[in-house]
Amino acid sequence: MSPLARTVFECRRSVTSYRELPLPWVLPCYSPRVPTATEVRSTTHVRHSLLVRVTHWLTFLAFIALLVTGVEILISHPRFYWGEVGNVNTQPLFTFHIPSSRDTVPTGYGYVLPDQNGWSRYLHFEAAWILVLTGLVYLAYLIFTGHLRRNLIPTREQRSFRAYTGRASDYLRRARSGVELHTYNVLQRSTYLVVIFILFPLIIWTGLAMSPAVTSAFPATSSLLGGRQSARTIHLFVTILLVLFLIVHIVMVAISGFRVRMRAMITGKATLSTEFTSKELR
Ligand code: HEM
Repeated sequence: MSPLARTVFECRRSVTSYRELPLPWVLPCYSPRVPTATEVRSTTHVRHSLLVRVTHWLTFLAFIALLVTGVEILISHPRFYWGEVGNVNTQPLFTFHIPSSRDTVPTGYGYVLPDQNGWSRYLHFEAAWILVLTGLVYLAYLIFTGHLRRNLIPTREQRSFRAYTGRASDYLRRARSGVELHTYNVLQRSTYLVVIFILFPLIIWTGLAMSPAVTSAFPATSSLLGGRQSARTIHLFVTILLVLFLIVHIVMVAISGFRVRMRAMITGKATLSTEFTSKELR
């Protein structure tokens, strides 16, 4: 067996310590299958590899920077349009009834907010590139280590309407499964897939479709969406969906065991405590 193949094999064993792993920061450290109830009862195990943890928290930081600066950019023109052209002389699709940081925008308010557009736009673009690069590294990890197939695509048993409603009712009953400290349930898997493969690509595409440099080289980036203003409006709606995801994500982590899950996402290790059942939920 080649050293790399042996490393992957080692990593995929049910490991309990990073010291057992030759290259923990690049290789998958998840169990290759859903563990049995007896295995679940057994103590501490490696839950998230370093690469997943670093890309997860980098994405979160970049997302918060994008959100804060995005709001600042929105304030400079809180009117949204459809099509290619939109300005104070065209009819908006909808308007946020808030004061603006530009005195040219009619808002109905008798004052103008301080203009923070300079640093906001720079930071927005820098954070966007951090998000794109981090996302590409995470995507490569998902595909090449099998993490996508093993932990994110719903298993055959989970692909049913009953699995979704069953796990949702388990959440409502606040049932906590130790098995889920090894892998994700069907609701988590489906939500993560939507965020990774639909919402993030859409937010990046609509962002690029607003860039004159990109659209002059690749006009289809904006024309396929109906124009630059349409791209801006879709960008806003996708942002709202991502914020909703973030709120639900945090609530779900809280319901299913905040301390143990956060510790695992920070240190990599999860320890089973008595509040978890060894039963497999959906
Ligand atoms: C925009 C921000 C965020 C995004 C896009 C995001 C996305 C994700 C994704 C895709 C996973 C699965 C990772 C994998 O195994 O490959 C995950 C897991 C996780 N996230 Fe987030 N996350 C965000 C913010 C947060 C925040 C703010 C918290 C903490 C309050 C958090 C806590 C966790 C935890 C604890 C897990 C592991 C869940 C479990 O073990 O059941 N995330 N997140």
